[in-house]
Amino acid sequence: MGFVSCLGSAPSMAIYCHFLLLSLLLVPPALSQVSEFVSIDCGGTTNHTDSRTGLQWVSDSNLMRTGNSVSIQNPDGNLEQYKRRRDFPIDSNKKYCYNLATRERRRYLIRATFQYGNLGNQDAYPKFDLYLDATKWSTVTITDASRVYVNEMIIRAPSGSVDVCICCASTGSPFISTLELRPFNLSMYATDFEGDFFLKVAARVNFGAPTKDAMRYPDDPYDRIWDSDLVKRQNFLVGEARGTIRINTTKDIWVGTREYPPVKVMQTAVVGTEGTLSYRLNLEDFPANARAYAYFAEIEELGDYETRKFKLTQPYFPDYSNAVVNIVENGNGSYSLYEPSYMNVSLDFVLSFAFAKTRDSTRGPLLNALEISKYLQIAAKTDDQDVTVLNAFRSLSPGSPWANEGGDPCIPTHWEWVTCGKTSPPRITKISLSGKNLKGEIPPEIYHIRELEELWLDGNSFTGSIPDISNLVNLRIMHLESNKLTGSLPKYLASLPNLHELYIQNNSLTGTIPPTLLTGKVIINYEHNPGLHKEAKKKMHFKLVLGISIGILAALLLLLLGSLVYLLHHRRKNTIQKTNEPGSSFRASAKPSTAYSVSRGWHLTEDGISYYISLSKIEEATKNFSKKIGRGSFGTVYYGQMEDGKEVAVKIMADSCTNLNQQFVTEVALLSRIHHRNLVPLIGYCEEQNQRILIYEYMHNGTLRDHIHGLLIKNHADLFPLPSLCGYQLLCRLKIQ
Ligand SMILES: *[C@@H]1O[C@H](CO)[C@@H](O)[C@H](O)[C@H]1NC(C)=O
Ligand SMILES: *[C@@H]1O[C@H](CO)[C@@H](O)[C@H](O)[C@H]1NC(C)=O
Ligand SMILES: *[C@@H]1O[C@H](CO)[C@@H](O)[C@H](O)[C@H]1NC(C)=O
Ligand SMILES: *[C@@H]1O[C@H](CO)[C@@H](O)[C@H](O)[C@H]1NC(C)=O
Ligand SMILES: *[C@@H]1O[C@H](CO)[C@@H](O)[C@H](O)[C@H]1NC(C)=O
Ligand SMILES: *[C@@H]1O[C@H](CO)[C@@H](O)[C@H](O)[C@H]1NC(C)=O
Repeated sequence: MGFVSCLGSAPSMAIYCHFLLLSLLLVPPALSQVSEFVSIDCGGTTNHTDSRTGLQWVSDSNLMRTGNSVSIQNPDGNLEQYKRRRDFPIDSNKKYCYNLATRERRRYLIRATFQYGNLGNQDAYPKFDLYLDATKWSTVTITDASRVYVNEMIIRAPSGSVDVCICCASTGSPFISTLELRPFNLSMYATDFEGDFFLKVAARVNFGAPTKDAMRYPDDPYDRIWDSDLVKRQNFLVGEARGTIRINTTKDIWVGTREYPPVKVMQTAVVGTEGTLSYRLNLEDFPANARAYAYFAEIEELGDYETRKFKLTQPYFPDYSNAVVNIVENGNGSYSLYEPSYMNVSLDFVLSFAFAKTRDSTRGPLLNALEISKYLQIAAKTDDQDVTVLNAFRSLSPGSPWANEGGDPCIPTHWEWVTCGKTSPPRITKISLSGKNLKGEIPPEIYHIRELEELWLDGNSFTGSIPDISNLVNLRIMHLESNKLTGSLPKYLASLPNLHELYIQNNSLTGTIPPTLLTGKVIINYEHNPGLHKEAKKKMHFKLVLGISIGILAALLLLLLGSLVYLLHHRRKNTIQKTNEPGSSFRASAKPSTAYSVSRGWHLTEDGISYYISLSKIEEATKNFSKKIGRGSFGTVYYGQMEDGKEVAVKIMADSCTNLNQQFVTEVALLSRIHHRNLVPLIGYCEEQNQRILIYEYMHNGTLRDHIHGLLIKNHADLFPLPSLCGYQLLCRLKIQ
């Protein structure tokens, strides 16, 4: 059964269709291969059967709604499928794609053909690009209106369907005449490289052909096109050696069980009666590495003492050229196919090839057929996860043109509503679906589109809450205004490191706005959300708190500078000391009395040492947090006593910010090195089981200082996800220096 799905890429018209081409049951068994063929008559207005071949052609009118059907004068062979072509708009930003259903990992021949017909009143012949998925297949350059330009690709299907796309016209309007899909059953075209390379067919020639007509279905059950060597065109099989004759036989040829050339192709050949057989032909898009197969079958009756032995003399490949071809001996006797498998050879744009007989051979070289394909590197398609997200959006509006642009979202041209990064595989960096009348919830899949920088969903009717986008660390701009979104504003928005513009006005959001979103770092518009408000208390004190904390931070800076100077001085002294006492270790020079439990990479500094103190040690010291000595908005403070009797105040940070990071830890470390009469020395720190605990020296009369310090720490914690406030930044900078 042939199954075709299609996506028209017209923005103006939407199509999305699947249809069964033929049912296996209706086709006589002899033609069963045909049932798997897909033959699309592009621009054709009716379905029709080719009476000579029995091939069933379907019009693409249900597959492609963009472009016009244009009738052609002098169609090739007066064939129905060449009577009309499909012309696409001249828009270099658009691609027009046919989606062909495939079975993953099965091998196929895909063929696109182009016959332009007469130039008519167009002023230039078309020139445009052909793509298979994201891989550039060919540039189609029409120079002869009557010629049928054939592009063939042999692939192992990378997925459940492939896209054949036409795009990027540089002159004229792009068009297509036919599109054909022919499955293979066997392994003839298996290569070591098929996971990474398609095989772009460069030449397939039937030597000694009876007429100029190409040999194809039904002679070839796989409908390959075997060009006749009688065809005359520029740079195609020129420079034939003297004494070349054409031979044929009516005897059956054993062609083996793989997809070897059909018997009819093998029944004819050319022979270089003067000892050499040579030709020259141009190979489009070469030089390249190629799979170049020569097919031989002895179809002359050789006398008892006659031999036919020859070598490939040109091009010269050491591995191949030194081997003597003796068809009867190498193969399976006369009238039997032999093929030496030139699996990977490097060929030039102008291929001159020659076979020459060996001295002891009585007959000249013989050649029945040739097939040369270029290894074409498969280009990466847009990241799978990103495509999943885009598909979730498309499914919200299955009928709209924007949801039915075919092919890959990014290559060769990107869909109208997305922008792509330049990476390989491409990633989506922007989604613009403003005012598309979208309903329902914003697809939760959005969580996975990690490289997204801009999200424009404003002016739709999205309902539900804002989905989890905590993963979108690259998000800079988000427009969700004028929807019907409900629920609260997620706290983590404040910690998205690149978020710079947030528009959520005119929705039905509720709750409080995380205060860090209101510090000026993010351009935020949240009007017309009746249930959404700022944090009332904090707002009142905010300026005061900010003022105090800036003041304290400024003081801290001075102190820090001072202590840095001191530190440098002290360290120099220490180094001198150390060099003087060879046996002394680093640990010995630190103050052991303050070391409780070092379980992490923690800085040891000569003054104001903070240590990582394990939660169990803290539980021990505070007797499981039994004595509460204070409480502030920053958290609860407990009394404790360390192993060595040192009295401590233990603060459990009541901070909703759950993504603890090392940066904060380092900041605390920095604070701990600062001594000031208004500050209680920080002696330890713990971060376990989502708990963040600070351990201070206990001060019996420390209420005031404790208060100020608590305020500082509290603000510090609040500022933590927002590294733009001046104090914080300065601290960071100083730390780095
Ligand atoms: C051609 O055949 C297909 C199914 O095989 C059908 O869906 C389509 O409508 C037909 N087109 C025309 C123009 O009859
Ligand atoms: C390929 O396989 C299909 C069934 O899978 C069969 O119908 C068809 O005849 C085969 N083709 C050839 C050329 O053997
Ligand atoms: C086959 O070869 C004979 C000569 O051996 C020739 O007369 C005949 O025309 C050839 N037939 C074809 C179809 O080329
Ligand atoms: C072919 O051979 C060349 C050199 O021998 C190698 O670099 C290349 O990877 C091979 N395969 C293809 C598909 O080019
Ligand atoms: C050789 O050819 C004969 C038919 O001529 C065929 O039956 C046989 O399987 C072939 N043997 C091999 C090894 O290809
Ligand atoms: C608010 O959003 C609705 C759609 O949800 C829209 O029709 C309306 O124009 C918007 N109002 C303003 C003031 O933007």
